[in-house]
Amino acid sequence: MKKLLAAVALTVIIGAITVTGMTMQSTGEQNEEMMTGRSLFNYAAATGNIEPVSEGIPVTPRLLEHGEWVFRGMCIGCHGIDGDGNGAVWELGALYAKEHVLPRKPRDFTEAVYKLRSTPSGSLPTDKDLFTSISRGLVLNQDMPAFQYLPERDRWAVVAYIKTFSDRWEEEAEWQEDPIEISEPPLPTAESVEAGKEVYKLMQCEQCHGPTGKGDGPSAPGLEDDAGLPIIPRDFTDASQFVGSSEPKGIYQTFTTGLDGTPMPSFADFLDETQRWQLVWYVISLRTEFDLETTRAKMTAEGVNMVAQLESTAAQQ
Ligand code: HEC
Ligand code: HEC
Repeated sequence: MKKLLAAVALTVIIGAITVTGMTMQSTGEQNEEMMTGRSLFNYAAATGNIEPVSEGIPVTPRLLEHGEWVFRGMCIGCHGIDGDGNGAVWELGALYAKEHVLPRKPRDFTEAVYKLRSTPSGSLPTDKDLFTSISRGLVLNQDMPAFQYLPERDRWAVVAYIKTFSDRWEEEAEWQEDPIEISEPPLPTAESVEAGKEVYKLMQCEQCHGPTGKGDGPSAPGLEDDAGLPIIPRDFTDASQFVGSSEPKGIYQTFTTGLDGTPMPSFADFLDETQRWQLVWYVISLRTEFDLETTRAKMTAEGVNMVAQLESTAAQQ
C-alpha cells in the first residue's frame, strides 16, 4: 500500500513538473508571438535550397537562443565554442591527425572577415550572403560542409548567432554597404569570349590563375591567406572546385568584390560593364566541358521559357 501511495505521489509530482514545464514553454512562445506577431516555428522550414525562400526572421532573444543551439550542435567542432575557428577538429587535428588537417582554417567569426560577399571589398556580407555560404558550403577539399539540409529557420537562426561574436556588426551598421548590382548575363558570342581573353591578360589574372586557368600562374606558388596558410588560385577548368557560385553572376561577383582574407583581389575599379561580362564568359570558356553553342542554346531556351511563363500568367489573369 505504501509503495502504491509513493508511486501515485511520484506520478503526481512528475505530472506537475511536466505541466509547469509545458506552461513555461508555451508562455515563452506567447511572448515571442507578442513581440513578432509570429512564433519561430511558423517560419520557413524549407530544406535543400541554397538561396533563401523567406526574407529572414526578426532577431529576438528566442531566435538567438535557437541559433546557439544549432551552432553548438553543428558548428563548434570546427569553429569553436567562442567562434574563433579554434574548434577541436582544427586544434586537435594539427596535433594528432596531420594527414586530416583541414586545408583552410575554419572562419574566425570574431574577426568578421568574409570571403563570399555581394558587398564591396572590405565590407561586411549581408545576412543572405551568410545564409547562402552556410547552405552551399565552401566544399573545395571538403573543408566547410554544406548545410542546405537544415530547415531554413535553423539557418537564419545560426546566421544571427554567429554575428554576435563580433562588434563589427553593430559598429558598422550605420554605413553597411549595399550589394553590388548585377544585371542578367548577356548571351556569349565567339567575339565576346575572345575579347574576354584580352581582359584576362590585361588584368593579369594569369599571373595567379595561369594562362589556361589551371591555377598555375607564376605567382601561384607561395600565396598565403590571412591565416598564413598556403592557398592555390582556383582551377577554372573544373567548376565543382568553386567555393562560391560558379554561375555567370557568381563569377561576376567574385572578381568585382574579391574574396576578403585571401590574395584574390577586387577588380571593381578597373573594369567597365562590357569587359566584366567578357571576362565572365572567358573564365567559363576555360571549363573542360564548355561548348559555346550548347551554352547559347540553353540560355536562349531559358529566356524563351521565361517569356512563355509570363504569357501564361498574363493569360490566367
Ligand atoms: C568540418 C568543419 C566545419 C564545420 C562543421 C563547419 N564549418 Fe564553417 N567553415 C569551415 C572552414 C574550414 C571554413 C573556411 C573555408 C574557406 O575559407 O574556404 C568555414 C567557413 C565558414 C564561413 C565563412 C564563409 C565566408 O564567406 O567566408 C561561415 C559563415 C561558416 N563557415 C559557417 C558555419 C556554420 C554556421 C556552421 C554550422 C552550421 C559551420 N560553418 C560548420 C569549417 C567548418
Ligand atoms: C594575386 C593572385 C590572384 C590574381 C591576380 C587573381 N586571382 Fe582569382 N583567385 C586567387 C586565389 C588565391 C583564389 C582562391 C581563393 C580561395 O580558395 O578561397 C582565387 C579565386 C578566384 C575565383 C574562384 C572563386 C570561387 O568561387 O571559388 C575566381 C572566379 C577568380 N579567382 C577570378 C579571377 C579573375 C577573373 C582574375 C583577374 C581579373 C583573378 N581571379 C585574379 C588569386 C588571384
